Amino acid sequence: MIIAVDGPTASGKGTIAQALAEHFGLPHLDTGLLYRAVGRQVFLDGGDPDNGGDALAGCAFPDELLLDPHLRNEETGGLASRVSVHPAVRQALYDRQRRFATQDGGAVLDGRDIGTVIAPEADAKLFIIASVEARAQRRFLEMRERGVHVTKLEIADDLRRRDERDRNRAVAPLSPAPDALVIDTSPLSREQSIEAAIEAVMEAT
Ligand code: C5P
Repeated sequence: MIIAVDGPTASGKGTIAQALAEHFGLPHLDTGLLYRAVGRQVFLDGGDPDNGGDALAGCAFPDELLLDPHLRNEETGGLASRVSVHPAVRQALYDRQRRFATQDGGAVLDGRDIGTVIAPEADAKLFIIASVEARAQRRFLEMRERGVHVTKLEIADDLRRRDERDRNRAVAPLSPAPDALVIDTSPLSREQSIEAAIEAVMEAT
């Protein structure tokens, strides 16, 4: 069974994908981490994330970089969003994601284009959305917990910028597959979101 979980930044898709993987006993790949590793590598190399050649060179990152504590921060998220617009970068990361998706027994993958590009044959496709306000509020609490000082307004601005870039890029833009089930987590708690997702997968399979 392949489960594709797509959606914008801070929509809750990561939490949902992880919970689905646990519930159905499947391995999980957070594909955003791969783009983040490329962005981080370009930064470490002193390259320009908007330059296709520099971004492609960053795809040769070592596996250990996936454990880099800086991978999850906002700066790296911004770099990831910039390197991910280059078709050559998306192509370079395709095989790795495809292998994970098609392994024996199935898998859960979360990202932007799992249901449309990486695994269009997925048995269940979820597209997780939430309002900018709800996403900014969650990010704000997360960051405050980590001791990072940033206003909700700044977070909301950054989310809008990233949404815009992810939606408008020429290759694999962020948009739901025609057969995806859309779940709006704005009014839902973490537990309710997970419950809705499990139900949706059961219905689809
Ligand atoms: O999901 P996450 O915030 O970690 O992703 C970081 C960035 O990587 C996104 O803003 C998006 O531009 C890019 N990405 C992508 N395709 C994926 C996963 C992430 O383009 N499958």
